[in-house]
Amino acid sequence: MKQFTVSPIKSALKATISVPPDKSISHRSIIISSIANGRTEIKNFLPASDCLNTLKIMQQLGVEISCCNNYESVTVYGKGFHSFSEPKNILNCGNSGTTMRLMSGLLSAHSFLSILTGDDSLLSRPMGRVIEPLTLMGAKISGREHNTKAPIVITAGVLHGINYEMPISSAQVKSAIMLAALYAKGETKIIEKEKSRDHTERMLSAFGATIQYDKNEIIIGSEQRLEAQNLFIPGDISSAAFFMAATSIIPGSEMVLQKVLVNPTRSGIINVLKKMGAKVEVTNKKDISGEPVADICITANELNAIEVKGSTIPLLIDEIPILCIIMAQAKGKSLIKDAKELRFKESDRLKTMACVLRKLSVEVNELEDGLEINGLNGEPFKINYSIEWPSHFDHRIAMSVAIAALKANEPLNIPGAEWISTSFPDFEKIINKLQMAAV
Ligand code: S3P
Repeated sequence: MKQFTVSPIKSALKATISVPPDKSISHRSIIISSIANGRTEIKNFLPASDCLNTLKIMQQLGVEISCCNNYESVTVYGKGFHSFSEPKNILNCGNSGTTMRLMSGLLSAHSFLSILTGDDSLLSRPMGRVIEPLTLMGAKISGREHNTKAPIVITAGVLHGINYEMPISSAQVKSAIMLAALYAKGETKIIEKEKSRDHTERMLSAFGATIQYDKNEIIIGSEQRLEAQNLFIPGDISSAAFFMAATSIIPGSEMVLQKVLVNPTRSGIINVLKKMGAKVEVTNKKDISGEPVADICITANELNAIEVKGSTIPLLIDEIPILCIIMAQAKGKSLIKDAKELRFKESDRLKTMACVLRKLSVEVNELEDGLEINGLNGEPFKINYSIEWPSHFDHRIAMSVAIAALKANEPLNIPGAEWISTSFPDFEKIINKLQMAAV
């Protein structure tokens, strides 16, 4: 495992940062433009391994894609819904659940053999949640362990629309169904208990699809046609969250994060930080390629404990590991509940974060669907050498530990640094720059 050493920061953080482009929107930009008609130019694409896996899979399916300046600009030459050809080899999604689930939906509508696989983490994640609704739509799709795990094999598909009440709130599952619905005969209706991120709905709409989405219900008709668009991908709020956290736990800090996505289905972390006491301002708000984008200005302040549960969870699902670090610095006992989905991410994030917090000498209670965290009221984290690091780090866990290390009593060797490049290739560089500026 690659190690990455982070030392405690010597003074307050004062910086203006551009965070990497949004991962969820980068995946969708490649997928949707590949089935549109015409040339889509994508500016500010995220060249992280997860999104590159989506891009390579589209090329394996015969889509022409050209990239320049380290993916600063990606051009996709879409030829419509029926332009894919049977891939010669298996399609490797690596660590990316978004690639595997969204591609399952799209490939279910194609009458050729496709096999989707991934790394050990992805092979252990639940895939029955996409296989089931796609089978109801008429897809010939199967998976390992009685159709619950990848590799996923898809052989043919003549699809029809369905009415589907989602048993869990998941943007990946609803997006898989929406992509399949574009090819289905008849209308598809999807109902979610709690609204999850709506990037697929927004982007399909921007490409000209007929789609109604309001609150927790989506209706998507058949016989659609998508027209190419030019896109700009905004900064990823899930990456920005690490620096919002660093600013809020290091007294006297101030930071501006530029051109960040502030879509309400993603910006739960802003509201939670405000409620905990941090000063957060959202300025220069504008709409770019159908998504709200703004600068986030954050100033450190005393943090109080909070309860985060229910419909708030999907609005900050990927920020929960770093939220645990913020809660561990607050005054009082914080609670996260209704977050069982965290057990099915790149690692079991409830178990992993409980272990990380214990290693940082924070009192924590692991619940079936959440965590209870006793905050240190601003005291530095102390490394407990009698506790082992968790056996599995994923990108968001490794970055959360790196941020905690800025506020620890001694330098920390963080295992699993190689995972960080799945979403944030320049993370280490930015941390080193902040360290140099704080000397
Ligand atoms: C994603 C949706 C979320 C999130 C994941 C990316 C997406 O998963 O955790 O990192 O791009 O659609 P869910 O399927 O649980 O919503």
